Amino acid sequence: MMIISPSLLACDFLNIESELNAFEGFEDLWFHLDIMDAHFVPNLTFGHPIVKLISKKTKIPLDAHFMVSNPEFFIETFKDFNIHNFTFHIEATENSFELIKKAKKYYPSVGVSIKPKTPLEDISSEVLANIDLLLIMSVEPGFGGQAFIEESYERIEYFNKLKTQYPNLTIQVDGGVSNINADKLRKAGADNLVAGSYIFKEGPTTYREKVESLRR
Ligand code: DX5
Ligand code: ZN
Repeated sequence: MMIISPSLLACDFLNIESELNAFEGFEDLWFHLDIMDAHFVPNLTFGHPIVKLISKKTKIPLDAHFMVSNPEFFIETFKDFNIHNFTFHIEATENSFELIKKAKKYYPSVGVSIKPKTPLEDISSEVLANIDLLLIMSVEPGFGGQAFIEESYERIEYFNKLKTQYPNLTIQVDGGVSNINADKLRKAGADNLVAGSYIFKEGPTTYREKVESLRR
């Protein structure tokens, strides 16, 4: 089953509790948390106090995407917030393998993310063999609501072929995802789709219908 991760960056922050409650009971769903430090990316979102409150309010697994220059600091300081998946960027570190090992001590699932222009080979076989999730960015990280980059399909296909060697690897895609590209993304090899604007900001349909439309 395709896991869907609504990105809370696009939710109504003044009513975050009711936004969280609206998804209670949904299956194969994670909440995607975009944590930005105004350094790795030119935007600042939310940090420890908000993530702590969210973790107390929901039983839905939390999928935290750290767009930060110093992921090591965040591995330590977010460890008590019941985060299911911890993803950091390959571009933010020179010792990704050490960081993966460290993150595994605290988080059930560890992911690495790659920006749209980073060479695919920068994700080494050592990294692929040790992560649970590979996040392929389909927009430049930093902001919600951007247009999907079409070249992303080839990047997903490249890693999908490698899944024979890494059968437990989850391929996640993030940025500009909607019902228009979801089916093509699944066919290219995506196992998990992140969607912010499409779920929270478009049209009159319910969240349930939005989520289901990404699986069709
Ligand atoms: C972008 C974030 C995404 C963003 C997706 O830097 O990593 O998770 O919230 O938003 P949409 O779905 O609106 O592109
Ligand atoms: Zn994200």
